[in-house]
Amino acid sequence: MALLEIKNVDISYGGKVTVKNCSLTLNEGEICSIVGESGSGKTTVIRAVLGLLAGGGRVTAGDILYEGRSLLSLTPREWRSLRGHDISMIFQDSGAMMNQTRKIGNSFVEYIRTHESISKKAAWAKGVHMLERMRLPDGDRIMRSYPFQLSGGMRQRVGIAMGMTYQPKLLLADEPTSALDVTTQAQIVRQMMELRDEYGTAIILVTHDLGVATYMGDKIIVMKNGMIEDQGQRDYMLRETENEYTRRLLEAVPSIGGKRYV
Ligand SMILES: Nc1ncnc2c1ncn2[C@@H]1O[C@H](COP(=O)(O)OP(=O)(O)O)[C@@H](O)[C@H]1O
Ligand SMILES: [Mg+2]
Repeated sequence: MALLEIKNVDISYGGKVTVKNCSLTLNEGEICSIVGESGSGKTTVIRAVLGLLAGGGRVTAGDILYEGRSLLSLTPREWRSLRGHDISMIFQDSGAMMNQTRKIGNSFVEYIRTHESISKKAAWAKGVHMLERMRLPDGDRIMRSYPFQLSGGMRQRVGIAMGMTYQPKLLLADEPTSALDVTTQAQIVRQMMELRDEYGTAIILVTHDLGVATYMGDKIIVMKNGMIEDQGQRDYMLRETENEYTRRLLEAVPSIGGKRYV
């Protein structure tokens, strides 16, 4: 059974259909990159998976199945047990999502304690452990820092650490490297690849960076005007697709030593 199956989904904001007839199948441990110009519907699709559509957005047709179970009719309680545990999301600047006036540790402890009933001390230790697993040395010091005291790359690692606390099977990443400089981008990209290798985490990566998309994605989906314009395995998309739009997009990706990016 597929881990995630998006089946012929329409998504509307305020009655206006924005994403039309979107289908996507993701297996365990698979990475799927979604590319496409700004406004093509990438964020809308992944937010729909986690039931987090903004602005009254709604799935108005089709179905979204996680391990064979429809996500469209979950109760708030079922969502709470799924989010963070089975499916996590990271954003362009995870630091900006955190409360700027609170230390990382306070936010992290609170996050952990919404998911399991353990003492603050145990939650703190768990947070430190996760940070160190995400290669943030001196987790204790980071827990005592405010978000603004960390670099963008470190904040993004903190965001990934939080998202990975319960080793979700699916990580949704919306432009996770777009706010970072090139060197830090490459580090975060490698780190996400390691998550897949170590934990078998499947990832849907939304990015307008075609280098990152083709480097990470086992498969690639190209969106245009709220529809899937083209999709396929990476090699097919890079070499074989007849789709003109995809070809023009991917022609622009620099190739280094035969292997693209990083
Ligand atoms: N909260 C919202 N309310 C109304 N329309 C929205 C909202 N968010 C996105 N849209 C519309 O949905 C379309 C796709 O947006 P989005 O999914 O953010 O695209 P992308 O992530 O590819 O840039 C856009 O036309 C945008 O105007
Ligand atoms: Mg977006």
